[in-house]
Amino acid sequence: MNANPGGNGTFISFEGIDGSGKSTQVKMLADHLREQGRDVLLTREPGGSPGAEEIRALVLQGDPDRWSAETEILLFTAARRDHMERTILPALAEGKIVICDRFADSTRMYQGLSRGDLRATVDQLHDLMIGREPDLTILIDMDPTTGLSRALSRKTADERFEAFGEELQVAMRQGFHDLAVEFSERFRIVDGARDMATVAQDIARVVDAELQ
Ligand code: ADP
Ligand code: TYD
Repeated sequence: MNANPGGNGTFISFEGIDGSGKSTQVKMLADHLREQGRDVLLTREPGGSPGAEEIRALVLQGDPDRWSAETEILLFTAARRDHMERTILPALAEGKIVICDRFADSTRMYQGLSRGDLRATVDQLHDLMIGREPDLTILIDMDPTTGLSRALSRKTADERFEAFGEELQVAMRQGFHDLAVEFSERFRIVDGARDMATVAQDIARVVDAELQ
C-alpha cells in the first residue's frame, strides 16, 4: 500500500460527521504510532499549511451564505492543493505517516451533497487539481444525535457547518457509508459511540495491520 507517487510514506485520513471524535482520535493515533518510533505528521483540513489556514477562516467563519456551493468547492480544493504541495507531499516524500483530520471525502459529502447534487463537480476538480486519495481512510461512525450534541458542546469559532443541524448530519452519515462501499479498498469503519480509549484501541489495531 506504500507504492504511491507521493513517496514512500503512508497517507491516512479520518472522516465522519461533526462531533464523531476525529480530532480526538487523530491525536491518540499519532501518539500510538510515535510510541512505536514512527515519524508522524498530524494535520487537518481545511487547513494544514499557512495558505490553507487562511482559506479555512474564509470558509468556516463569517456569513455562511456569501459563497455558493460551487465557490465553496473551489475554495476547499484550493486549500487542499496548497496543503498537498506544501505539507502532505513533502512529508510523504520523507517517508512519514501523514494523518489528516478530514480530506477530499469531506468535500464529496459536504459540498457534494448539502446543496444539490454536486458530486461530479467535486470529483472533476479533484481529478484535475489533487489527483490522489489517502492510502487508508478511517470512518468514525456515529449516530447524528450524539455527534451533534458533542459538536455543539465544543463552542469553537467554526460553527458554520454544525449549524446545518441534524437532518444534514443524517444524510452525511449515510453518504459516508456509501463512500465506504465505493472506496472499499481504503475505507475502514470504526464505531465511535464508545469510550475514547476503546475507539482508539480499535483504530490502532486497524492501522497497525495496514502498516505491516
Ligand atoms: P470531531 O473532530 O469529529 O468533530 P472531536 O474529537 O472534536 O470530534 O469530539 C467532539 C467532542 O466530543 C469533544 O468535546 C470531545 O472531547 C468529545 N469526545 C470525543 N470522543 C469521545 C468519546 N469517545 N466519548 C465521549 N466524548 C468524546
Ligand atoms: P472542523 O471544526 O475542523 O470539523 P469538525 O467539526 O468535524 O471537528 O470544521 C470543519 C468543517 O468543514 C466541518 O463541518 C466539515 C467542513 N468541511 C467541508 O464542508 N468541506 C471540506 O472539504 C472539508 C475538509 C470540511
